Amino acid sequence: MFLNLLGRAVYGLMQHKLYSLAGILILTLAYWTHAYLTSPFRKQNIPGPFLGKFTNAYRWYYVMRHTWHRDLMDLHKKYGPLVWIAPNDISVSDPSLRNVIYGFQNHKKDFTFFRKSHSYETGSINQDFSFIFEQDPEKARLGKYYMSHFYSEQGLLNLEENFDKAVNELIEGLDKHHARTGTPCKMVDWAEFFALDLVAQITVDRSAGFCLAGKDVNNAAYGMRVIIKTVGALMPLPWVLSATSRAIRQNLLLRFLINLYRNVLLLPTFTFDTGIADLKTLGEKNPKHLLAKFYNAQSKMREHYPHGNQAEGTTIQVFNLIAGAVGAVPHTQVKLIHELTLHPEILQKVREELATTDNTFHLEDFIRHNGRQNKYPIFESAVREAVRLSPAVAFSLSRKVPPSGCQLHQYHIPPGYNVGMAAYQVNYDEGYFGPDVAQFRPERWLEDHPTEMLEGEKRSMKNYIEAGWLSFGSGGRVCIGRHLAMFMMMKFTAAVVREFDIRVVKQPVEHHTLVTEMLGMEVLLSRKCAVRVGQHDG
Ligand code: HEM
Repeated sequence: MFLNLLGRAVYGLMQHKLYSLAGILILTLAYWTHAYLTSPFRKQNIPGPFLGKFTNAYRWYYVMRHTWHRDLMDLHKKYGPLVWIAPNDISVSDPSLRNVIYGFQNHKKDFTFFRKSHSYETGSINQDFSFIFEQDPEKARLGKYYMSHFYSEQGLLNLEENFDKAVNELIEGLDKHHARTGTPCKMVDWAEFFALDLVAQITVDRSAGFCLAGKDVNNAAYGMRVIIKTVGALMPLPWVLSATSRAIRQNLLLRFLINLYRNVLLLPTFTFDTGIADLKTLGEKNPKHLLAKFYNAQSKMREHYPHGNQAEGTTIQVFNLIAGAVGAVPHTQVKLIHELTLHPEILQKVREELATTDNTFHLEDFIRHNGRQNKYPIFESAVREAVRLSPAVAFSLSRKVPPSGCQLHQYHIPPGYNVGMAAYQVNYDEGYFGPDVAQFRPERWLEDHPTEMLEGEKRSMKNYIEAGWLSFGSGGRVCIGRHLAMFMMMKFTAAVVREFDIRVVKQPVEHHTLVTEMLGMEVLLSRKCAVRVGQHDG
């Protein structure tokens, strides 16, 4: 009887599309209003834009306009350090609250530990361990344990020869395709070509040939952008996770993923079903390189991901590497080159530092180990300043409030709601970083902070900035690729400023979805000295 009535009601609604639409609208509005009226944020008067309190569509709209990173900065200027931006989400900009949310707490303390929020699930596209998107802190800790040593400074130092091979191909490519022809060079494209070549070098000790070809071979970089934009567009919409599964999301992106692996690993027939033998052989041939390490790490993690597949488990680590190296680094790289062209006095100092080490950036002269000194303090500070001002990973690092709840200034956020900080809002906080926060001023990293450390020791500004900024995240889930990102930018920049004079003919434009891209910058390159390609630069 009841089913009969329901069936007739549904049939009736279908007959009357207008009524159906009106019905859906009324139900949605009723749901939003109920959620708003019962929200603990309303009871505490947490400020925020009116529409954002009702619907996730508010934030999504600005994400899709690609301006959300700056819009949210304006919202924080208007409403203060805590903004109610979506029905269940609070955005926090005050760097002094960073440790409350991301602090190194015992991950086993379920009662007080802030896990990555459910929205990260959007980026999970297979059944295996995906470093960036894993929400289970215990599994993420294991992953870090198995993988952090080869992403450490020392681990990467072992692969310096591969960095230099990629640099040589970069210079050869730029010379052939731009300096000699006089055609403008699209900066972000070249930073991506370099990143793709470098990933192939450090993963399987091969040249992937993007810089030599001077183009995005088989649209590999394009595929990476599509994946990042898709995840970025879906992440602010929680209902997407109810409507899709990991398998559906993977299928949506499968073509781009497979294309990436085929072109970077140079395995033209790779598939998840048949690829593990190839990956294993390739790894065994290059035991020092990252593919072998990824294969070993996924084998050790296997018992935690019994539904996964070894080929997916290995390549998802390649994907995480590509997401960081190709998806994030190139945009900060563009910012750095842009700022150096705007500040010739800094560029001159960088060149002077490089002149002390054969005009070449050597990791040995940078990493402070075995009592060695960093010979590039200004250069390093310029890179860090670009990372501060243009933090490519610019989405909210959202965390679920644990059962203990949390106190953020005068507000109490109950368990289950999301709180998150995002790098632009935090890194541009005048109260913490000072009134010149928006200026590119590398020297700030080399100064002392007026306060002192324990036992009267001077506190460096580097220590102070790194305790507040959010460019690489914070706490247990801090970016594992941060040393790699620094080395990539230093190798790329050192080679380009050594070999070329650079004239900007088109300015970059910020474009936000998941990462904040720096699109459109074009430069003219002219050669500074004779070509030296195909040899190690040392
Ligand atoms: C300028 C470049 C980069 C920036 C700004 C950046 C930023 C970040 C940030 C903010 C996080 C924290 C995410 C969170 O808490 O939810 C993160 C995590 C991560 N990054 Fe990067 N990243 C960069 C480059 C790289 C590179 C080159 C790699 C390559 C390995 C990489 C791999 C990762 C991984 C695997 C994680 C997840 C770590 C975890 O959850 O424990 N990143 N990155």
